[in-house]
Amino acid sequence: MSLVLLSLAALCWGAVPPEPTIQCGSEPGPSPEWMVRHTLTPGDLRDLRVEPIKSSADLEDSSILMNISWILRADASIRLLKATKICVMGKSHFQSYSCIRCNYTQAFQTQTRPSGGKWTFSYTGFPVELNTVYFIGAHNIPNANMNEDGPSMAVNFTSPGCLDHIMKYKKKCIEAGSLWKPNITACKKSADMVEVNFTTSPLGDRYMALIQNPTVLGTSCVSEQKELTRTSVVVHVTGESEGAVVQLTPYFRTCGNDCIRQRGTVVRCPQTGVSSQDHDRSVLGGWLPLLLSALLVATWMLVAGIYLIWRHERIKKTSFSTTTLLPSIKALVVYPSEICFHHTVCYFTEFLQNRCRSEVILEKWQKKKIAEMGPVQWLTTQKQAADKVIFLLSNDNTMCDGTCDKREGGPCEDSEDLFHLAFNFFCSDLRSQTHLRKYVVVCFREGDIKDNYSALSVCPTYRLMRDATDFCAELLHAKQHVSVGRRSRICHYSCLSL
Ligand SMILES: *[C@@H]1O[C@H](CO)[C@@H](O)[C@H](O)[C@H]1NC(C)=O
Ligand SMILES: *[C@@H]1O[C@H](CO)[C@@H](O)[C@H](O)[C@H]1NC(C)=O
Ligand SMILES: *[C@@H]1O[C@H](CO)[C@@H](O)[C@H](O)[C@H]1NC(C)=O
Ligand SMILES: *[C@@H]1O[C@H](CO)[C@@H](O)[C@H](O)[C@H]1NC(C)=O
Ligand SMILES: *[C@@H]1O[C@H](CO)[C@@H](O)[C@H](O)[C@H]1NC(C)=O
Repeated sequence: MSLVLLSLAALCWGAVPPEPTIQCGSEPGPSPEWMVRHTLTPGDLRDLRVEPIKSSADLEDSSILMNISWILRADASIRLLKATKICVMGKSHFQSYSCIRCNYTQAFQTQTRPSGGKWTFSYTGFPVELNTVYFIGAHNIPNANMNEDGPSMAVNFTSPGCLDHIMKYKKKCIEAGSLWKPNITACKKSADMVEVNFTTSPLGDRYMALIQNPTVLGTSCVSEQKELTRTSVVVHVTGESEGAVVQLTPYFRTCGNDCIRQRGTVVRCPQTGVSSQDHDRSVLGGWLPLLLSALLVATWMLVAGIYLIWRHERIKKTSFSTTTLLPSIKALVVYPSEICFHHTVCYFTEFLQNRCRSEVILEKWQKKKIAEMGPVQWLTTQKQAADKVIFLLSNDNTMCDGTCDKREGGPCEDSEDLFHLAFNFFCSDLRSQTHLRKYVVVCFREGDIKDNYSALSVCPTYRLMRDATDFCAELLHAKQHVSVGRRSRICHYSCLSL
């Protein structure tokens, strides 16, 4: 009898108080409870936490949401608790504000869970944007009366950028290459060459590889139409590249110059032939020690032979290179800020380095030096050191729209300052024929030089890539100091008529 009663009681105990759960919905305005006066109100929350989570397993179509979880305080006032209201304010480029209200499906009968532990709930919602500060506030309902300070709890949450392990799944990040794994390998092929291999992305076909140690040693631009193929590019470098950083900048459609850059390290290229020598040596190691001396002699002869062959080859090679390689010249490149650095200057620089065998001086690569010396001193020194000063002009503004990202600010302003400075130098050189010879203008499109810089039209002007051969020839003439020719005379004449 008592057994039956006991088990009945147990059944009732198990069945009667269903645990409260939450039902949440948007409530932008004040809660209806505001309008009513409450003599008793529940206490505040014990804890409030926020973490970003990925809303679905699908890579392509997932948004990042906030998982907001809270813990109720275990005190007697929990019996009065009807709902919890959570408001989120986001602050980035613009502000956002929204609130939800989570009703508890049952009144709370106990201060803690029947199973033990505090009452804990969580709500998933509120989309998370990149790099945004969120203020999350929560309070219990019925809330305190209108003129009383109600208990509430607030936390801050700053969402990370695309490099974060969760945020990288945002559509914007995926489009900027957050999921692209180029698997960069780079090795030093020779004193002035680095080979960079990487896997291309379906998002775009233009890339720039840059070797830095920490100054820029060289760059190379790549266009690869095929997706997800392994691409190899050789970068000409002007310094010790072993251990240097290789930075791969992609130019995808949606992110332009602001795509996610990837890095790798330059190592020494594996030497072919070493392994077979090692193999020989290990085989020889098994032979009788008596034969060692004889082998030593043989090795000596082999080494001597290899050395002779190598020297011969080297002589052949150097004589070959001296006859085929054109003299290297120093070119200082200045450009106005409306030219996008990556799309235009990078390609032009690579062209100068690889096709015209020029050493390029770019403001962009000498920021530290410029800061130390001051722009005027730096430009004066570089102008003197350079064989040619090249004004890189774009006569089409639309060509590079949005390239000088206003958010970045600095680099554009710097290049603008230096361009104006260089242009002023040019103006003061207008009367000297020898000085004027240094200047060359390169335009990317047909058309006249813009009014502001019309004085530059006295100098040889080339359209890339149409006049590429002539342009290289002009640079090389500069080195050989035989450019007394027609152009400078025309230039001089035009200057006098200015
Ligand atoms: C929560 O309760 C309030 C007041 O009873 C009601 O107006 C609201 O619609 C409820 N919300 C949800 C999501 O059930
Ligand atoms: C949200 O966070 C709470 C507490 O950490 C956790 O119990 C819950 O499973 C999380 N929800 C989701 C959807 O991940
Ligand atoms: C949130 O951050 C602001 C400043 O960014 C600070 O003044 C405020 O105290 C923080 N609030 C909390 C609850 O941490
Ligand atoms: C990266 O490339 C190297 C060399 O090509 C290869 O051995 C390695 O498996 C690749 N790793 C990944 C993750 O694709
Ligand atoms: C790049 O790829 C080429 C061709 O597949 C290979 O011979 C070379 O060793 C690779 N170099 C690096 C640095 O991975």
